[in-house]
Amino acid sequence: MRKSPWAGVSLVFFTFVQSSLGLNNGLAVTPQMGWNPYNAFSCTTGQSQYESNANAVVSLGLKALGYDYVNLQVDCGWQGTARNSSGGFTWNTEAIPDGIPALVEFVHSLGLKFGFYSDGGFFACDSVGGTGGFLGSLGFEIEDAATFASWGGDYLKYDNCFSVSSTDFVDFNPPIEIEPHYIAMSNALAATGRPILFSACEWGVQDPARWPASAIANSWRIANDIGPPPSWANLFRIINQLVPITGFAGPGGWNDLDLLEVGNDGLTMAEQQTHFAFWAAAKSPLLISTDLTTISEEALAILTNKGVIALNQDPLGRSIAFKRRYTNDHDVWAGPLADGSMVAVVIEMDDVARSITFDLSDVGLTSATATNVITGAKLGTLTNSYTSAFEAHGSLVLRLSNLVTAPEPTFTFYDAAGEGNILAGGASTRIVNDTITVVGFVGDGGTLEFTDVNGGDSGGTLLLSLDYINADVTESNTDCSNCRVALMSVNNGPAVEVQMPLSGQSWDILFSGYLVSLSGFKPGTTNTILISNPSGFTPDCYRH
Ligand SMILES: *[C@@H]1O[C@H](CO)[C@@H](O)[C@H](O)[C@H]1NC(C)=O
Ligand SMILES: *[C@@H]1O[C@H](CO)[C@@H](O)[C@H](O)[C@H]1NC(C)=O
Repeated sequence: MRKSPWAGVSLVFFTFVQSSLGLNNGLAVTPQMGWNPYNAFSCTTGQSQYESNANAVVSLGLKALGYDYVNLQVDCGWQGTARNSSGGFTWNTEAIPDGIPALVEFVHSLGLKFGFYSDGGFFACDSVGGTGGFLGSLGFEIEDAATFASWGGDYLKYDNCFSVSSTDFVDFNPPIEIEPHYIAMSNALAATGRPILFSACEWGVQDPARWPASAIANSWRIANDIGPPPSWANLFRIINQLVPITGFAGPGGWNDLDLLEVGNDGLTMAEQQTHFAFWAAAKSPLLISTDLTTISEEALAILTNKGVIALNQDPLGRSIAFKRRYTNDHDVWAGPLADGSMVAVVIEMDDVARSITFDLSDVGLTSATATNVITGAKLGTLTNSYTSAFEAHGSLVLRLSNLVTAPEPTFTFYDAAGEGNILAGGASTRIVNDTITVVGFVGDGGTLEFTDVNGGDSGGTLLLSLDYINADVTESNTDCSNCRVALMSVNNGPAVEVQMPLSGQSWDILFSGYLVSLSGFKPGTTNTILISNPSGFTPDCYRH
């Protein structure tokens, strides 16, 4: 007989449910939506591509889709390489022969808003490895904001190339604070008196979600670029980086997961669907970034799905949060919606088409009435679980109402640094603050063994709740980008791989309540749980 999965042992983590109030400029009350050329054209977009894509935003029905803030943005490459004789911003006359004011007027004439792009550095980003010399706005914030406003700008995406020096192209670990660059431009935009949505694009460096970013920008990029070229590995890296900051998104200030890759090569259609639905439910800005003049019917169907768009534009403005990871199998994320219903997103993580059982207890429910958001199918009442077919890296997105909540599980916590546990091979305790001591250097030879763990009256399979710290941020795609793996073994039985995402960008922020089921417990209090990883560090462990 298996023990009830809710009677269990637990490793404790803390969850932050801090919510920002957003930049107080009345904009981006719901996440902005629009079109940006970068993922399709890099820094080489010309006037005719801007014009034809602006026309397509209208003719394909995207503008009419209830997007609150449809805009057409320019991106890198639109700028000149030298200021004019009075220090004013200039445009690239080869790329934009009719001039920026005329392009802005054209976009406005279609009923679209116009988005500018600049950079909080000595030069802007370019596509030729940092030798393009496109103008940046560092030190010219007030003048440039005034110029963009006078040209009719409604939006500014603000990048971060050459922010340290005129020779340091992209620096993910800058020796200076980046935040003042963004505060300066935010203030300069406010001073223009024109409503200009401010989109901070500094790739998640120095954790902008935790700046008083809420008061600085309407959205902030949380991670390095999704591409081009896009890949599932990029999506996984960004998803893991979102885990600790979902609570910081709210009306006026959003976590920006990056421009969309729907319609571009590099992702399967199932992956593109998952990408769009996840971005929507995480309340990321939805910025189409493909050539709309050649988009396929299939990709357009993904981008125009009204049910998915409604998740993004839901007036409550709460992101989905990480609920459960079945390592290399499936992820479960969920969050509340304005009408009292809940959205749940289940992602196939093993790259295999198969059926997956979604356990409603993973989102705190025993039953609910469900609609499949992507297909629109009404699924009736689901009780305890729902099994359905998934494509490889596909997803199930459910809108759940008539929620019947499950009883909260209770856990007994064991401190990693507690007496009786066995630290070996270099594993050692680290004091985080007055109340928290963790065990670090576990893995790569180090091991942590919890002893005297209570298996209850009948042993078997128990649910554990782990609290850990993992601030191992990476901008690149490793095996486990922005996550760390622990192998967990009960009573020296088979090791179970457990993959834990980031808990924050510094080593003093806990993730609380990572759930994992382990088998092999004996009745009584003589069980052990060994945590190890022969090929890399596990997270720092606080308790379980
Ligand atoms: C320089 O650029 C600014 C901003 O566009 C403009 O207001 C000013 O008239 C330009 N000055 C000259 C001399 O072209
Ligand atoms: C210790 O750190 C945890 C996790 O960041 C935090 O929740 C807690 O408030 C801190 N306690 C003290 C006393 O600083």
